[in-house]
Amino acid sequence: MTFHVPSTSPGPTVAPPLHGIDHLELWVGNARQAAHFWMTALGFDAVATLHPHPDRVSHVLTQGDIRLVITGARLADSEVAAHVRRHGHAVRTVAFRVADATRSHDHAVAGGARSVQAPHLVVDDRGPHMAASVAAFGDVVHAFIEEAEPSSHDVAATTCDLPTVAPGLPAVGLVAIDHVVGNVPAGTLGEWVDHHVRTLGLQPLSSFGEDVSTDRTALRSTVLRDASGTVTLPLNEPAAGTHRSQIEEFLEANGGPGVQHVAIRTDDIVASVAAMRRRGVRFLDVPRGYHVEARQRVGEVGASWDRLEEHDILVDRDEQGHLLQVFTEPLQDRPTLFLEFIQREGATGFGAGNFGALFAAIEREQAARGNL
Ligand code: FE2
Repeated sequence: MTFHVPSTSPGPTVAPPLHGIDHLELWVGNARQAAHFWMTALGFDAVATLHPHPDRVSHVLTQGDIRLVITGARLADSEVAAHVRRHGHAVRTVAFRVADATRSHDHAVAGGARSVQAPHLVVDDRGPHMAASVAAFGDVVHAFIEEAEPSSHDVAATTCDLPTVAPGLPAVGLVAIDHVVGNVPAGTLGEWVDHHVRTLGLQPLSSFGEDVSTDRTALRSTVLRDASGTVTLPLNEPAAGTHRSQIEEFLEANGGPGVQHVAIRTDDIVASVAAMRRRGVRFLDVPRGYHVEARQRVGEVGASWDRLEEHDILVDRDEQGHLLQVFTEPLQDRPTLFLEFIQREGATGFGAGNFGALFAAIEREQAARGNL
């Protein structure tokens, strides 16, 4: 167990509160095709096509309370194209809802963050509102988004330049973003934890800071959360192991730090996973024998163990209840960004009891790629 106590005091003022994750923006090589994947395979709805800058196009997708912005370059020499060349299909922005984007931005800058976009007025499908952003780890940025005034917005002016997905596919039922996980280089976890304390007012949760290892590879992790509990941002760094860890493999493939996975909540994980499998999503295999062991460890969970085994769904329990979780393969050929789907039945943890089983599965995939 490693608990990273911030080595620097928080800024002179208390951080303005975060009111949840507003959206994630992905910068991708082909936004039209990527949006098609998120719609067809993962059940998102197309809402709008935006042109925030002449060099790029953004497709806005939603499902439940989740808002994704999928952005691609329209020119060879552009910031988005350069980002894709380095990182591939990746999360560029983790955007937080705030009351006052200027105050949140200025607090983050006072805490040591580099400003990426000074506070400015944005007009999108939700109407005019203020936004700002600051640099985080690697090329990831944290954005601050104010709520729009819907009454002042001409909704009819919003267009959506994406095809409709053929009807008849099963509903996926994704509800909200549960947590977003970043990978940072070995030896920098403490520094990045401090950075998030100073700039966003997040706090490390001691109960989830831990070293996770198998007999071959290891990582160190700290979970950061805001005061209201609506934003959870775990960070990982590689730790010494006899083999290259999944975090080291990520850092190399991603060209540096970045978002490793996005966890999305569902109220019925068996139905969600069954629907996504039919839509063509592939999930990590769970080692044989896992479910027999898990049933003894966790007890009954209100779902059929046959279905959980059929769909490679992992199960864990903490003092508050249990959770069900499943992990996709990486979303692109690089072993970088992947997704987690999670159903919480009281449990507030992250499936620590599954780390051994999960890492064994990830290492098998890594070995198959010749990277272990
Ligand atoms: Fe996770």
